[in-house]
Parts: sequence; C-alpha cells; structure tokens
Amino acid sequence: MSGFSPEWLSLREGVDHRSRDARLAGKLALYFAGRDQLRIVDLGAGTGSNLRATAPLLDAMQQQWTLVDYDPALIEAAERALTAWADRTERVRELLVVHARGRRIEVRFREADLEAGLEDVLGAGPDLVTASALFDLCSPDFIDRFAGAVARHKAAFYTVLTYNGEQAWTPAHTADAGMLAAFTAHQRTDKGFGVSAGPDAPAALAGAFRSLGYRVSEGNSPWLLGEADRRLIAELAEGFAAAVDETGRFDAATLGAWTAVTRTAAVVGHTDTLALPAL
Ligand SMILES: C[S@@+](CC[C@H](N)C(=O)[O-])C[C@H]1O[C@@H](n2cnc3c(N)ncnc32)[C@H](O)[C@@H]1O
Repeated sequence: MSGFSPEWLSLREGVDHRSRDARLAGKLALYFAGRDQLRIVDLGAGTGSNLRATAPLLDAMQQQWTLVDYDPALIEAAERALTAWADRTERVRELLVVHARGRRIEVRFREADLEAGLEDVLGAGPDLVTASALFDLCSPDFIDRFAGAVARHKAAFYTVLTYNGEQAWTPAHTADAGMLAAFTAHQRTDKGFGVSAGPDAPAALAGAFRSLGYRVSEGNSPWLLGEADRRLIAELAEGFAAAVDETGRFDAATLGAWTAVTRTAAVVGHTDTLALPAL
C-alpha cells in the first residue's frame, strides 16, 4: 500500500487536469506533432490520471503506455478507471487496449518500485517519460539518477503537478505559517527514495536535466480551490494537519483549533516541467 487511496486520487483528478499549465502541454504536443506512434512510460501512475490527461494531447493515434506503480491496489483501480474512461477496451494477452479520443492506446501495467528498478522500468527506448504528482516524494539523488537514465534513452520528459511549497488558506489562521513550516519539514523526510526534495523538487529536476544538455521549460499549475471544491479542501486540510502532527511541532489544542476551521478556498502551488533532448 502506498498511502494514496484510489478515492483520494479520484477526488483530485478533475482539479489536477484543470490546473495543468496549458502552454507547456502545447509545447509537448508540438514536439511530438505528426508522430503516428509513441512509446510512453508513466511513473507512479496511480489510477492512470496522467494518461487520461496526456494521451489526448498527443497527435499519435497509436500509443503504447507502460503504467508503473508499486501499489497493486492502485494498478487494479487503474484498469477499472481506464475502462470507465474508454469508448471500449479489449484484452490482448497482458495488454489492456484502450480505444478513447480516437486513439488506440496499448496499456501495460508494471508493478515495480521505482527506487529499486529505475533502469528496468524505463524499458527499451521510450519516446516520452512522464509522471504526475510524483517528484516531490523523490530525493535529489534519485532525481539526478533518474535524469541520467532518461538522457541515456534520449527521451523527452514531462511531469506535472510537482508541489512547489506555495500554500494559502481562506480564511487565514494565525497558525498557518508555522503549520506550513512544519509541513515542509515533513515533506523533507524519506518517502521511499531517500530524504525527499519536497518543494525543491522542481528546481532539482530543472537543474538535473539542464546539466545533461536538455532544454527545460516550466509552467505553474496551482490548485485554485473554491466553493465547488469543498470536499477536496476539507480532505486536504485534514491530510496537511496529520502530516504536521507527525512532526510533533504542534500541540493537540492548536492542531484541533486549526482543523476546526471550515475553509472556503485554498491555493496549493505546483510546477510542471518539460525537458526536451538537445537537437
Ligand atoms: C500522489 S500519487 C500520484 C498518482 C498519479 N500519478 C496521479 O497523478 O493521480 C503518487 C503515486 O506514486 C506511487 N509511488 C510512490 N512511490 C513509489 C515507488 N517507490 N515506486 C513506484 N510507485 C511509487 C504511489 O503508489 C502513487 O500512485
């Protein structure tokens, strides 16, 4: 179990999709314009949200996706979610063939730990390596190793929704700033890849790919949450407070008072990153 439930990933999917930086998505589409076929690896794929947002951006009518995650429950949920999203699906040996948005998308599910099996999961010559909401969990060392592995394949890299440390709640609370500092400390603990980069992950990604000669572009993809996102705001605040509690920096009374507030809006900053190999 990864600690990310299918219900949480489903709750955030609509917001994730609307928050992505459209200019960067356009650059990705342009880079692959005119290609008939593409091989794509999605890391930390969860229930396949990134495929559902990214596959329709790409011209290629034939796409081969490998969805990698170490949580078997999420892989099962991904198959269900993709089937629900598709016009129709078929099974061809171990592949799920998804017909959606005019495209034929071959999906291979791969249960693997990225930290241990990075080279292996990238497979033979992907055109694109992608991920959504993953890299703030990763350490700077892993990010360097990962960028090196992608560069050896001369593959393009596109990741969205990497948490970048910005946060605001409405209404504001006197404990917000201290809570954010504690949350950031929690972010910089080991999430399975060594000590996480947390909000420094976008800079670590950009630096790692630039040092390998890649052309790097970034865009903002903040969650701008309002009245219509009340459930997500409430769950976000609860998860945020639970992480802060684990740091032991706040007493129960302050945490209780902070959690008791009904919030009507929130902003959570994210960065999208596109890294393209040198021409
Ligand atoms: C925040 S979720 C994002 C899921 C999905 N990409 C999305 O945008 O909805 C992070 C995902 O990374 C996966 N993950 C975390 N650490 C991993 C590891 N070491 N190996 C493989 N998958 C991992 C989790 O199981 C989870 O599905």
